[in-house]
Amino acid sequence: MGLATLKEVLAGTRAMGYAVGAFNFNGYEDAQGIVEGAVAKNAPVIVMASVSAVKYIGLRQTAGLVKGIAESVNIPVCLHLDHATDVALIKEAVKAGFTSVMIDASAKDYETNIRETKAVVDFARIYGCSVEAELGKVGGKEENIVVADASATFTDPADVTRFVEETGIDALAVAIGTVHGFYKADPKLDFERLEKIAALTSCPLVLHGGTGVPVEDFKRCVKKGISKINVGTELKATFSDAVRKAVAANPESEFDPRKYVGPVKQACAEVVKGKIDIFGCAGKAWRV
Ligand code: G3H
Ligand code: ZN
Repeated sequence: MGLATLKEVLAGTRAMGYAVGAFNFNGYEDAQGIVEGAVAKNAPVIVMASVSAVKYIGLRQTAGLVKGIAESVNIPVCLHLDHATDVALIKEAVKAGFTSVMIDASAKDYETNIRETKAVVDFARIYGCSVEAELGKVGGKEENIVVADASATFTDPADVTRFVEETGIDALAVAIGTVHGFYKADPKLDFERLEKIAALTSCPLVLHGGTGVPVEDFKRCVKKGISKINVGTELKATFSDAVRKAVAANPESEFDPRKYVGPVKQACAEVVKGKIDIFGCAGKAWRV
């Protein structure tokens, strides 16, 4: 089918009451496994490369890898650059064929966030690429972006309308109490805030920090207007566990690397299938 844009995969999600899963990957095995999980559920899927994943794999290699995977399946696959702060890197990713980019200027003041985001939107539009931006600050650690608990700030509904209208973004990441990485205590989500934000804009809303969010909270978020849900840390842990198990299960004489990293595909696919069921997007591939 080839790559789809974020705008395409998120169209109609809120009206139909489901969210599309967005999963971070760091190499071939997890990227392939994520897409295989989505294929098994006939669901659209967003595969996300963080800035450090792109630096590890290589920008063009990342684009080529996911483009190849997307062309080999019959579901919409969106390739998204996650939490990018460097506009030059974003432009390179757009030119390399990413179909979605996130400009994360959430650490900057409101006016700067608007200005930088709008500049990225203007550039991405030329290439037909979608843009996600963030208002408020999601706490925790996402690769090289660390937001201490005290600095995390929830999205102020009063900031939303102008931000969405002036920037022209395709998706808005909101801070409503989730954090990046493993939770130290149960997350306390501000559903009332989410409801208020959703009432103010029809722009698709994004929930970051999906690892460790209880199933019922996910479902409530989707009901109240979340269209894209990001899961990263859980897949990293799944990747590592699968390799550890495979190493432990094989004799020392085994030297085929595929015996060690191959199981990552199935393990990641299983996680993705579970999330797709929770997010309600199984069987929605046809919509895009
Ligand atoms: O942008 C990526 C996500 O927000 C991942 O969050 O690692 O806590 O699942 P997570
Ligand atoms: Zn995030």
